[in-house]
Amino acid sequence: MAKIQNSFEEYLKNLDLNMLFEKLSLYESEFLAREVEHFTVKEAEQRDRILINYFGDEGINRIVDRIVELLFASPMLPADAKVLDVGAGSGFFTVKIAEKVRSRLPKVSFYAMDMTPAMLLSLVKKGADVQPFIGLAENLEDSIKEARRYFDIPDEFDAVFSTLMLHHSVKPEKVFKSIRKVLKEDGKAVVVDLCEHCFEEFKTEMGDVHLGFKPEDIAKMASNAFGQVRVEKMRGICCQCSGRSAEVFLAYLYDALG
Ligand SMILES: C[S@@+](CC[C@H](N)C(=O)[O-])C[C@H]1O[C@@H](n2cnc3c(N)ncnc32)[C@H](O)[C@@H]1O
Repeated sequence: MAKIQNSFEEYLKNLDLNMLFEKLSLYESEFLAREVEHFTVKEAEQRDRILINYFGDEGINRIVDRIVELLFASPMLPADAKVLDVGAGSGFFTVKIAEKVRSRLPKVSFYAMDMTPAMLLSLVKKGADVQPFIGLAENLEDSIKEARRYFDIPDEFDAVFSTLMLHHSVKPEKVFKSIRKVLKEDGKAVVVDLCEHCFEEFKTEMGDVHLGFKPEDIAKMASNAFGQVRVEKMRGICCQCSGRSAEVFLAYLYDALG
């Protein structure tokens, strides 16, 4: 894994983040720079601990197990599937999901995209066989094109998943379309995020853009990109933070092939 670490550090040295954001973005690169600063200073080193505090080990295991269950649901992943985590952060979920999937399909390749270099450096330090790259969730197609100048990354994936990234996106509806564009025809996506809550202070404390989402709004947004959309509240799983609690939804998305 030293190879991934060295080449990722080398890639970051040569990367002009502002220039990349300007190329990829549909909105203010100053806003993105502020978000990156937030995640670099407040989360990159602490993210794994933050997640354990939010959900406890049991909640984390249930989220991982449900995502893995859906990755193995029909349409089944091929033995050499390519799987992308969008907004992977420190890779806490990426690595757990990769381990579980590879215990059944050892040849599956995992990729982790995020806009914050420091978050992906925390993932790389875990030493897992996951290829990280910098990009934006709203424009995965061009993010991948840019990253392919440095890394061997497929332009289409068998599956995409994303945990707790969507409420940081200014344009969540674009994220669904962007995911669809980089999935194979029979590919699938699993998106986990917060249900609507009333904690306005999460915007300043956690850099949140949305106070979660109503499951029906997620279903509407996702339906503009996917033929089959199932949104479920994850019963009994809440994101707990200093006495405040937000429910969690999971969206399972694919297209029925005729
Ligand atoms: C709350 S963290 C979640 C990280 C990880 N998925 C997890 O569950 O711990 C949100 C992550 O999304 C990234 N992010 C936010 N907006 C993004 C965007 N528009 N494109 C790509 N990454 C984004 C941030 O850099 C951060 O690492």
